Amino acid sequence: MDTSKKQAAAASTSMAITDKDFNRLVTFVQGKYGIDLHQKRQLVTSRLSGTVKNMGYNSFTEYVDFLLKKGSGDDINHLLSRLTTNYTYFMREVESFDYFTSTILPDIVNKHQRDKCLSIWSAACSSGEEPYNVSMYIMDYLGGQASAWDTRLLASDISMDALTKAKKGIYELPDTIPPNWRKNYFKPAGGKQYEVAPRIKNNVIFKQFNLMDPIHFKRKFDVIFCRNVMIYFDQQTKSDLARRMFDATVPGGYLIISKAENLPPDTPYARVATSIFQKR
Ligand SMILES: C[S@@+](CC[C@H](N)C(=O)[O-])C[C@H]1O[C@@H](n2cnc3c(N)ncnc32)[C@H](O)[C@@H]1O
Repeated sequence: MDTSKKQAAAASTSMAITDKDFNRLVTFVQGKYGIDLHQKRQLVTSRLSGTVKNMGYNSFTEYVDFLLKKGSGDDINHLLSRLTTNYTYFMREVESFDYFTSTILPDIVNKHQRDKCLSIWSAACSSGEEPYNVSMYIMDYLGGQASAWDTRLLASDISMDALTKAKKGIYELPDTIPPNWRKNYFKPAGGKQYEVAPRIKNNVIFKQFNLMDPIHFKRKFDVIFCRNVMIYFDQQTKSDLARRMFDATVPGGYLIISKAENLPPDTPYARVATSIFQKR
């Protein structure tokens, strides 16, 4: 079905929402999770109409009343899983991974020769492709030395559905995955599916985390990947998040965003390459 037909079909099965309920809902989501849906009325109604009906409500008014007054953690998780865009894939923006391997990894591995511990965070990891990908680059780089290093990565997202898929680690692989990676870092899981190999899977610790919250992890990070999430945030939210990430980065550490994004002009990070910033 082409896009306009899909949109028409979605609109015909969507329930109507009043301006007031739409505003109550998107203001709640933006205030708590940063995601700005004010221009996405059709997306909101088409993605949530099924939920409203399945929960036995006759209107968005009833659903929004319930959610804002009595919604449980599960109800909010469901809402977020419906409203977040989890699109991601292996080898996304490979130029950033090239810079990571050619410049960042040599730098941080050199700095950590004594403690042999890298501290890396994939801050909006969606279904896991990004942190697994980073892990594969690290394993390749360290080669025979890898077992002497603590290379565990933190990977977080707000969507529990995305995190569940990430923890399973089963994917159809794109052709862009190098053949030796397919062999070394995956095992066949039936049909076209491949499962991430245990040595890569065990190297990623998944956790639900809201990027609007204060960042209080045990250690500061050598590298933060925060790609393709700030596009959903407004300017102030982006600015505040960039500042919190800066505070959570070690001096000399890096922040990697995507080509589709930019940091606010007042960012304290220095830009060192396209989409790559350093705390100097
Ligand atoms: C498009 S995906 C990006 C995935 C990956 N970083 C990439 O570049 O391919 C955006 C992710 O941001 C997550 N997200 C949106 N708002 C968030 C928030 N407030 N806190 C944490 N994650 C959030 C979504 O759930 C979604 O999985």
